[in-house]
Amino acid sequence: MFDLFIFFCLFSWSLAGVFGVDEVKSVSVTEGESVTLNSDTEIQTDDMIMWRTVHNNSLIAKINGKDKKTDFPDERLRDRLKLDEKTASLTIMNIRTTDSGLYRVTSSRSKTPLNMFNLTVYARLSVPVISRDCSVLRLYQNCSLLCSVLNVSHVTLSWYKGISVLSSISVCDLSISLSLPLEVEYQDNNTYSCVLNNPISNQTTHLDITQLCKTCSAVIRLALSALVGVATVAVLVYDVRSRSLQQKKREQTPSNSD
Ligand SMILES: *[C@@H]1O[C@H](CO)[C@@H](O)[C@H](O)[C@H]1NC(C)=O
Ligand SMILES: *[C@@H]1O[C@H](CO)[C@@H](O)[C@H](O)[C@H]1NC(C)=O
Ligand SMILES: *[C@@H]1O[C@H](CO)[C@@H](O)[C@H](O)[C@H]1NC(C)=O
Ligand SMILES: *[C@@H]1O[C@H](CO)[C@@H](O)[C@H](O)[C@H]1NC(C)=O
Ligand SMILES: *[C@@H]1O[C@H](CO)[C@@H](O)[C@H](O)[C@H]1NC(C)=O
Repeated sequence: MFDLFIFFCLFSWSLAGVFGVDEVKSVSVTEGESVTLNSDTEIQTDDMIMWRTVHNNSLIAKINGKDKKTDFPDERLRDRLKLDEKTASLTIMNIRTTDSGLYRVTSSRSKTPLNMFNLTVYARLSVPVISRDCSVLRLYQNCSLLCSVLNVSHVTLSWYKGISVLSSISVCDLSISLSLPLEVEYQDNNTYSCVLNNPISNQTTHLDITQLCKTCSAVIRLALSALVGVATVAVLVYDVRSRSLQQKKREQTPSNSD
C-alpha cells in the first residue's frame, strides 16, 4: 500500500520536472509568504498587460501603459495583489495554498504570452513530535519511539542517525497523520533526529534519549511497586485470617474441655 504511494509521489514529481523547465517557470513558496511573478518586459505607452489564472482563464490584474491605471477584477485576490508600474510584475501577498496553479501574463502588443508560471504553495510544516511508545515492552535494553506529525500532505517524514536516513515515509495529496517508529538502545549516543520535509523546507526534532527513555521505566517501577503492594496486602489478609482462625480454635478449645 505504502510502496504504491511512494511510487506515485515520485512519478508525479518527476513529471513536473519534465514539463516545467522550458515553457512554464516553476515557483514554490510557503503559505503566508509573498511572491513576485516577473513579466520580463517594460510597459510601453500603447500597451495593456494582463495577468490571468490559466485553469479558469480569469483576468486577475491588468495595467494600462498610457495612464498606468491598474485594475484587479478578481474579488478573492484583489486585496493581496500588487502590480509594478514599470515592469507589470505581479506580487501576490500573504499567499494561500489555494493560490497554487498556472498563471499567464500577456501583452496587447504580442500574440504569445510573455511568461507562464506554475505556482506551488506548500503548507507551513509543523514540528515533528517524538514520544516513547510504551505499548511495546522490551526485555532487551531497547527503547521504542514514535515520531509523529498531524494532518500533513506532500511531505516526507524520516528518522536520521547523524546525516544518514534510517527510515522514511511519504504522503502526497491526502491530509493525514503520520507516525514512524524507531528502536534505540539506552546507551546510544544522542545523534538521532526526526525530520519532516517538503520540497522546499524542513522541520527537525532531535531525540534526547536520556530524557525520553526514562519515562517507561518509571511506569515499570510503578507497576512493580503496585505488585509489591498487592503482595503485601495479601500477606496481611492471610495473616489476619490465620490469626482469627487460631483465635476461634482457642475460643472453642475451652468450651470443649468444659
Ligand atoms: C506544477 O508544479 C507541481 C508541483 O511541482 C506539479 O505537480 C505539476 O505537475 C506542475 N504542473 C505543470 C503544468 O507543470
Ligand atoms: C487539515 O489540513 C487541512 C488543509 O491544510 C485543513 O483544511 C483542515 O482543517 C485540517 N484538519 C485538521 C483536523 O486539522
Ligand atoms: C535494539 O536496538 C538496536 C539498535 O536500534 C537494534 O539493532 C536491535 O535489533 C534492537 N533489539 C531488539 C531486541 O529489538
Ligand atoms: C558514543 O560516542 C562516543 C564518542 O563519540 C563513542 O566512543 C561511543 O562508541 C559512542 N557510543 C555508541 C553506542 O555509539
Ligand atoms: C533542512 O533545511 C536546511 C536549510 O533550511 C538545510 O540546511 C538542511 O540540510 C535541511 N535538512 C534536511 C534533512 O533536509
